Amino acid sequence: MKELLAKIKIQALEEIGKAQNQDKLYQTQVKYLGRKGELTLIMHGLKDLSPEEKPAAGKMCNEIKVAMEAAFDQKRDQLSASEINSKLNDAWIDVTAPGTPYKTGHIHPLSQVQQEVENIFSAMGFAIMDGPEVESEYFNFESLNVPSWHPARDMQDTFFVNQEADKKHGKLVLRTQTSPVQIRTMQKYGAPLRIIVPGRVFRNEATDARHEHTFNQVEGLLIDKDISLAHLKGVMEEFLTRLFGKPTKIRFRPGYFPFVEPGLEMDMSCLLCGEKGCRVCKHTGWLEFMGAGMVHPNVLKAGGIDPKQYQGWAFGFGLTRLVMMRYGIDDIRLLHGGNLRFLEQF
Ligand code: DAH
Repeated sequence: MKELLAKIKIQALEEIGKAQNQDKLYQTQVKYLGRKGELTLIMHGLKDLSPEEKPAAGKMCNEIKVAMEAAFDQKRDQLSASEINSKLNDAWIDVTAPGTPYKTGHIHPLSQVQQEVENIFSAMGFAIMDGPEVESEYFNFESLNVPSWHPARDMQDTFFVNQEADKKHGKLVLRTQTSPVQIRTMQKYGAPLRIIVPGRVFRNEATDARHEHTFNQVEGLLIDKDISLAHLKGVMEEFLTRLFGKPTKIRFRPGYFPFVEPGLEMDMSCLLCGEKGCRVCKHTGWLEFMGAGMVHPNVLKAGGIDPKQYQGWAFGFGLTRLVMMRYGIDDIRLLHGGNLRFLEQF
């Protein structure tokens, strides 16, 4: 009996020691201490022993049972600790490992050039203004000295919003130019004034490589006392020289725009050929850059400014055209086409 118990004890402790997971350990426990376990059966048999053998055997059984239970408890704790550890190991993150690179976007070429234009003009004391893209006929045309009967309305093909006309402000249109912000700013701030207005404009055009229904302009307006076109010449020469990073000349030609008198077209010297003449400037040495002129007295009046006290000049150039010129882009549709292979080049 004694030997049998000792053997079971050794065997059980050995198996407990070898158990590699909770399942195995549980099976071992059932094998020895379960209802039909080896030790349990021996303990059930104690009653058949002789009165002399019984106490010693009983005592030994109990000791073995206590020792086994302690061994099971200890092993169980050990296993669960190492299971937690291995779970933690699986979940371990190497915070020093290099990350997975992901694609970031960048600023659109139109916006890049717009920011440069804004920086140069801000440095010259101009404020940056904004205005609504859906505009009234009044601000887009009337207030800019283009009455509804005026043939100059035909210069720009306009998108109209399908809505009843307002008595004073007429119909709503998608603004065809940034010029209406001249009036809005004059009405809001009065004179003197020094602003530029970058913004989107819309024309009802059939699209091709040189025409889009949506493009970007920059309007300029300077109003003060004793202002002449000489100031415009100085400002524009300085602006273009800073923008292109090399000395740029400008010239004025007569031009007609209803909101200025006199009106003019401004050309810039061709930077590609240095005025020698090339394909880009059509062998003239000059590139058309913008429309400008002295603000018409009617426009000042519409803006609430007294033309007897103040005068000034205004200009408007195509930001889209400037970007195309700068980067040699030959199709305007690329700029709003959303093609990444195109955009990633800038
Ligand atoms: N608004 C004109 C256009 O879209 C451009 C322009 C010409 C603006 C002369 C001006 C200006 O302020 O004085 O064609």
